[in-house]
This record gives sequence, structure tokens and C-alpha cells, in this order.
Amino acid sequence: MNLRTQVGIVGAGPAGLMLSHLLHLAGIESVVVEARSRRYVGERVRAGLLEQGTVDLLKETGVGERLTRLGLTHHGIELRFGGHGHRIDLSGLTGGSTVTIYAQHEVIKDLITARLAAGAQIVFEADDVSVHDFDGPTPKIRYRIEGNLNELSCDFIAGCDGFHGVCRPAVPAGVLTMYDRVYPFAWLGILAEARPSSDELIYAYHERGFALHSMRSPTITRLYLQCAPDEDLGNWPDEKIWDELERRLAAGKGWKLNRGAVIQKGVTEMRSFVVEPMQSGTLFLAGDAAHIVPPTGAKGLNLAIADVRVLARALSDYYANGNRELLTKYSEICLRRVWKVQRFSWWMTSMLHRFADENAFDQRRQLAELDYLTSSRAASQTLAENYVGLPME
Ligand code: APR
Ligand code: PHB
Repeated sequence: MNLRTQVGIVGAGPAGLMLSHLLHLAGIESVVVEARSRRYVGERVRAGLLEQGTVDLLKETGVGERLTRLGLTHHGIELRFGGHGHRIDLSGLTGGSTVTIYAQHEVIKDLITARLAAGAQIVFEADDVSVHDFDGPTPKIRYRIEGNLNELSCDFIAGCDGFHGVCRPAVPAGVLTMYDRVYPFAWLGILAEARPSSDELIYAYHERGFALHSMRSPTITRLYLQCAPDEDLGNWPDEKIWDELERRLAAGKGWKLNRGAVIQKGVTEMRSFVVEPMQSGTLFLAGDAAHIVPPTGAKGLNLAIADVRVLARALSDYYANGNRELLTKYSEICLRRVWKVQRFSWWMTSMLHRFADENAFDQRRQLAELDYLTSSRAASQTLAENYVGLPME
């Protein structure tokens, strides 16, 4: 079957769905082509922290009803080291900004509901997805549904298909430059039916490795432990995970880690990655297709939303005024923010994790950095303004 739309979008993650939503609000038609099922993308456990700007955008564009009702607004975070907690007053240091805990798959569900209610076309369970002819004015997305070949012709393609997608590898050799760093550790994450042990997130530096206390709701806790990159979950029965979390998050007699049934367990690799430029001809890359950050700064989802905000504005300017200038500058505008967020995510990761090749000097230096960070207003403010989200250009 041959189909036609204005913007063909590969991938129904936060980037692809939000782009489709923003384009719709600007009167631009799009079709989203996704490899997985609707159920799979709506249930996949991913990140869960939204910057102030991401929350504002979701609310302003009419997809914030459940977010307003169910999201948990946080005014601060805690850094824990040497057995003591130190609060960073995010709101106080940023003139009132906050972050919100709301699972990524809930954002996905809200966006899918809104798109389908507006009559949008989202093609789920597309096989053999490929992109073609983006060196010219009529690029195409080809895919199979139950064995039948479909071809979607468009004016532009948005590659929102994540780190392992097909769009980035489709760009001819020599056009893109990749920058990356793989960290010598990973995160073992659990979701547990346990009341959060603190109202705010706790980032803990410990000689046995990093630990993070987060949450999803008043009854569900999300916890992470620094582990080996090739960690075998088979070696981590639930009891051992809880014991290790308890050790790393310990903070005197007044604090207790609430335990509960573990309902999900997984290992997340840690990587920093950027591709430059984020475009080639009429193909534009957004979100994880163009960059990956380690999860320590909680930026992956927010950066994906920031990209498509820029792309939607550029496409709107093109369709409304015939102006291609913003499209030409898409990469340049996004990358300025991307690199600042890369720096922040790398810095949080380097400060809070144990590295196998570090010595006692490095540990003392990390502790001094944490001490400085939590005792200097200037340093705390630097953390806070990055954590709640840098302004959009
Ligand atoms: N064809 C069609 N769809 C594809 C293909 C393909 N060949 N390959 C991948 N996809 C889909 C995936 O199934 C997924 O639904 O593209 C979507 C990409 O979504 P994400 O990986 O969530 O990427 P993005 O939208 O950029 O959002 C980034 O996701 O990984 C987290 O931490 C990351 O929070 C960040 C966010
Ligand atoms: C999460 O809740 O999953 C989460 C929170 C903060 C992070 C990373 C993950 O930095």
C-alpha cells in the first residue's frame, strides 16, 4: 500500500509521540510507525523524572490531566554521603522550579490516548522498518504489516527510534560523527511494592558504590544500585538487593529503608553518546536516536522532549512561512543544549560512582566535592538549575 503524509515519524517513544502531538497542534499531519505493540510501549518500565519545562509543556499542550492528578511534585533532593543526608533545595535555589515524578510509560499512554482521540495514525507492530530517499524532497518510510509491504511518502522523516533504531544507521558513511563514553558499571534497578522511605529522591555515594532511592507513587518505590556492567541478575536474590541498598543508603538510627515485594528487576547500562549533526537531508534525528546520557542526572526523557520542541517549531515555521532557516539550524540549536546536559550527566555520574581504577586520593576528592556542593550556595545552585532543567533557547 502507498500512503502519504507531511512528516513521517519512526518510533512511538516520548520523542516520536510528543513530536506528532506538537505538529498536530500546529496543523501539520504526521504518521508514527512503531515496531512494538501499543501495550508494550505503554508498559515498558523506563525513567520517571520530569523537569519543570517538560511538565509545563505537557500541561500547556493539553496532555497533563493525569500528570497533574498523579505526578509527585518534588521541591528538593537529598545527597547522602559519609552516613549523612544533605538536602538541595531545588525550588529555593531556582526561584520556584520543581521536578515531578511521573513514569515515562504514563507519559506514553497519555500521548497515545490524545493522538488517537484526535484521529491520528499510529502504526504499531510494524516489521522491517526502513527509511529511504532522504537526500531529496520526498523521503519514504517502508515497513511491513503482517507481511504486506507499505510505503509512506513524506516531506520529512523524524528518526525518533531510540538508540538501537534504524534511522541513524541509515545515514551514509562519513556524514555523522559519534562521540561516546561507556562507563565501567551499570545500575541494577528494582520496582517494589513498598512505601517510599523518604519524601524526596536520595542520591547516595558509598564506598561500596552508588545507590538511588526514587519512587513512582505513595506505595511504589524505585531503587537502584551501582553494579558490574555484565551483572547477572541470577546472583541477586531480592534479599541480597535489599541488604545492599540498606548498607549504601544507611544514615544513622533515624532512617529506615522500607522493604516490600519486588515487582520488576533489571540492569541498565551506562553510556554517554552524541551524534553530530542530528540531521541529514530531510531526515532529522531526535531523542535517544541522537544521544544517550547516563541516568544519574535523570535527563534522557527531558532531552528527547527538548529536541522535538525545537523540531516542531522548525517544521511549523517551514509549513506556515516557507522558511527553512530553523530546519537548517535544528542540529546546532539542539546540540548546544545536548552538550550542556551531557556535561551535567557525566559530572553527576563521575561524582557519585566508584570507579575500579580510582585510588584513595580520588575517593577523598569525591567526598570533598560533595562536601563543597552541599555547603556552598553557589555550588548547590549550579546543581539545582541543571537538575530542574536548563531554559529552552
Ligand atoms: N522501527 C520502528 N520503531 C522502532 C524501531 C524501528 N526499527 N526501533 C525502535 N523503535 C521504537 C522503540 O520500540 C521505541 O518505542 O522507537 C521507540 C524509541 O523510544 P525510546 O527508546 O523511548 O526513545 P526516545 O523517544 O528518544 O525517548 C528517550 O527513552 O530510553 C529512554 O532514557 C531514555 O528517557 C529517555 C527516553
Ligand atoms: C527514576 O525514578 O527512575 C530515576 C530518578 C532519578 C534518576 C534516575 C532514575 O536520576
